[in-house]
Amino acid sequence: MSSEKEKILVLDFGGQYDMLIARRVRELHVFSEVVPYDSVTVDDIRNGGYSGIIFTGGPNSVEDEGSPRCDREVLSLGIPVLGICYGHQLMAYLEGGRIVGSAGGEYGKVELISSGKGIFKDVPEKSICWMSHNDVVKDVPEGFSVTAETADCACAAMVNEKRKLYGVQFHPEVTHTQFGKTILKNFVFDVCGCKGERTTEDIVSSTVSECREKIGDGRALCALSGGVDSSVAAALLNRAIGDRLICVFVDHGLLRKDEAELVENTFRPILGDNFIRVNAAERFLKRLKGVTEPEKKRKIIGEEFIRTFEDVSHKLGRVDYLVQGTIYPDVIESGKGDASTIKSHHNVGGLPSVIDFDGIIEPLRMLFKDEVRSVGRCLSLPPELIERQPFPGPGLAIRVLGEVTEEKLSVLREADAVFREEMIKGGQNEKAAQYFAVLTDSKSVGVKGDARSYGLTVVLRAVTTDDFMTAEFARVPYEILEKASNRITDQISGVTRVVYDITGKPPATVEWE
Ligand code: XMP
Repeated sequence: MSSEKEKILVLDFGGQYDMLIARRVRELHVFSEVVPYDSVTVDDIRNGGYSGIIFTGGPNSVEDEGSPRCDREVLSLGIPVLGICYGHQLMAYLEGGRIVGSAGGEYGKVELISSGKGIFKDVPEKSICWMSHNDVVKDVPEGFSVTAETADCACAAMVNEKRKLYGVQFHPEVTHTQFGKTILKNFVFDVCGCKGERTTEDIVSSTVSECREKIGDGRALCALSGGVDSSVAAALLNRAIGDRLICVFVDHGLLRKDEAELVENTFRPILGDNFIRVNAAERFLKRLKGVTEPEKKRKIIGEEFIRTFEDVSHKLGRVDYLVQGTIYPDVIESGKGDASTIKSHHNVGGLPSVIDFDGIIEPLRMLFKDEVRSVGRCLSLPPELIERQPFPGPGLAIRVLGEVTEEKLSVLREADAVFREEMIKGGQNEKAAQYFAVLTDSKSVGVKGDARSYGLTVVLRAVTTDDFMTAEFARVPYEILEKASNRITDQISGVTRVVYDITGKPPATVEWE
């Protein structure tokens, strides 16, 4: 658990929006961490220095056997609690209220009538909230009163003011709830008494001293990809231990066109001999031969990365620590406790269980992407670097669907370079948060010259998003897509078809694998 001055515990019961809750709280400049309900004890919570607790939503019915439940005592620690959706029902259940299934449930935007008091301060009597539930609190527990309702939900919110226990059936963390931020702010500031004084400088100085303490007079090897996260991690560690930090850039042969040179040209001048480039394409491609399953690819790449770093470490006379740029969404999306695994991020779930370092240091492990960027700015990293699009650790291996081969990689590299060029030329670079090409494993019939061709299908993907947890497809002008498509089919032999991905996240993810 962290040593932050003010912090809110988000107790995770398996809801879809848990990370968003923590983000919203952090937007108020208060630290917040998501912890699976069954990975902490009542004593951990009592002694954890929390100013408040938020119970998340979740897919279960509280009354069902085996449903996730925390100890009732959590509600009696004197720490304010806000239950959201399932968390609201759980609070009612633990306190002796009655929960029942409702006919058909409530989903989507719903009119909320609320009291204007307590956590509803500055919320108009009528506003819009986002609902997603089947069950409802039918009878509130003793000592509680109802503070909001909707047409189909008589207890859309409840409170026991004396004990600082609050429940809301709707989701204040999603942007569709008009006054969601106000409600969370009222809870965090008025009820929990937080002041919201957490600054980026605090994050930098506490991280630097934690890393310094952990590494002592040892050395650390930083896995540097040239992306925002690993660059910021390297800058933090550089501040902590100076030239006892060695940065290793692995060219695994899965990089975009000209990427390796760009990274080398950026970092070599800054780090000098402490920047080491390893050309490991052959090694990675050999291990990926014949592998088609995305999770398997990720695991192999994760493991090969570590083995490559170990080799470098041994050549350098064994380095004590490995530094990685893992960020908070990577940690949560790789699956903890009840949260189901979406993808094993190569730098989290893909780690082999035995590694030859004294430990791994992940200075950004608790930070969201926007916080990482603020840290980068605070450390005076160049803006071009801080604003770079994310590029996944497994690289093009998860954008070449099916087996990864040199030939497919080379087609994808060219297609991706064309798309990037056209997006920049067309002034779309700042409009989309991330854009790239994917090479599918489906062939389709086309006509090139006057002859029938049967060739590859390339997908273009561009998304807009703040946090990469949810995303929309970018409304890229047709003219730009047309230019990219024409150039790809004209210039890259073997490609007969180009399609544009118009799926959001959810239900899709940003990457295809
Ligand atoms: P998804 O596909 O999960 O991607 O919606 C969300 C963001 O994360 C990036 N991504 C990764 N980054 N290692 C990384 O460092 C990975 O294994 C990985 N997988 C996805 C993705 O590019 C997007 O920005």
